[in-house]
Amino acid sequence: MSIKKNYKIKPDKLEKFISTVYEKCKLSKKHASIVAKGLVRADVRGVWSHGVVRAPIYCERILKKVANPKPKIKIKKIQRNILHVDGNNGLGFITSSIAMNECVKVAKKYGVGIAGIYNSNHFGMAANYLEIATKNNCIAWVFTASSPALPPHGAMAAHFGTAPFAFGSPTGNKNKPFILDMACSAVARGKLKFAAKSGKKIPFGLALDKFGKPTNDGAKAFEGIMLPFGGMKGAGISWMMDIIGGIFTGANHSGNVKNQFGNNFSGPANVGHFMICLKADLFQNKNQFLKKMEYGIKKVKKLKLAKNFKEILHPGEPEYRKEQMIKKQGVILSEDIVKDLNELGDSVGVKSPF
Ligand SMILES: NC(=O)c1ccc[n+]([C@@H]2O[C@H](COP(=O)([O-])OP(=O)(O)OC[C@H]3O[C@@H](n4cnc5c(N)ncnc54)[C@H](O)[C@@H]3O)[C@@H](O)[C@H]2O)c1
Repeated sequence: MSIKKNYKIKPDKLEKFISTVYEKCKLSKKHASIVAKGLVRADVRGVWSHGVVRAPIYCERILKKVANPKPKIKIKKIQRNILHVDGNNGLGFITSSIAMNECVKVAKKYGVGIAGIYNSNHFGMAANYLEIATKNNCIAWVFTASSPALPPHGAMAAHFGTAPFAFGSPTGNKNKPFILDMACSAVARGKLKFAAKSGKKIPFGLALDKFGKPTNDGAKAFEGIMLPFGGMKGAGISWMMDIIGGIFTGANHSGNVKNQFGNNFSGPANVGHFMICLKADLFQNKNQFLKKMEYGIKKVKKLKLAKNFKEILHPGEPEYRKEQMIKKQGVILSEDIVKDLNELGDSVGVKSPF
């Protein structure tokens, strides 16, 4: 077996490259920067399944004209703090960042901001939008519909998405918010894609092959059926995502969201997202809220440890730790990903930094 090489790169250098690539794909400088920041931020938090490994597929959708490089995003105010956002088939990073920033604005004024987004595309790592809220002292939930990947409980066919359930809250440490961002599948589908690419085995129990047989082969799993976490509970949440992200917002739903990673270039994906943003000091002053958050976290950390545990972390803390490490050492990318990024650069005439 050949040993594969890893490449290290500083996050800002990687971001500049990705941003230039997207500008070449006809995105405005501002929109290209939003997409590049969103992708690299995932790598910096160690969520590599939703990082630059995905840069080529979003570009391909634009170049094949099934996603719009110059979306005119329309925000309709249903109420002064309830927004219906038409993404005009722009990339999900752009529509969702704009929508969350608007939600924060109205939440600061009225306490709560809500946005339903339709005509969007895959938005990558949900934590990107939670972080916009938590940095602004807001609590947020982010929901999304996504393409068929896992079965409803009792079915043997991929129908609902692996759509992440995502919740964020500020804590006493402004750099370390509480971020619960988890796919409904036992593992994010992107991790299977990565395993498939790098030829790595995955644990049994995460996915079935296309014939419904348990598999530990990343490639077969990626082609097959993802399994939800917690049986009918994860399956129920993925259905909920389809209702709130898809049906409720006016986007595609019920198995009709186009699979961006399965070479379905037959038309716009019309992905829908839904966001709720609350001012954290809605019911008590900011300091009281943050102090109670810290108190709660400290109390949990002092609990008796379960077997084989050295400490207790809060959601978002593992990624914060990876971030500290990655900021120092750089983003590490595998040979396969670098090859794809080099090809991507060549295809649009941008010199790769590798
Ligand atoms: N856009 C989409 O359609 C889509 C679909 C699926 C997944 N995703 C993204 O995939 C990414 C990865 O999802 P995942 O489910 O593989 O994440 P994961 O399993 O790595 O982590 C899930 C959550 O558990 C927390 N966690 C992990 N270890 C912990 C520990 N030791 N103690 C306490 N908390 C801990 C993490 O902070 C995180 O909030 C997410 O960013 C998600 O938004 C996106």
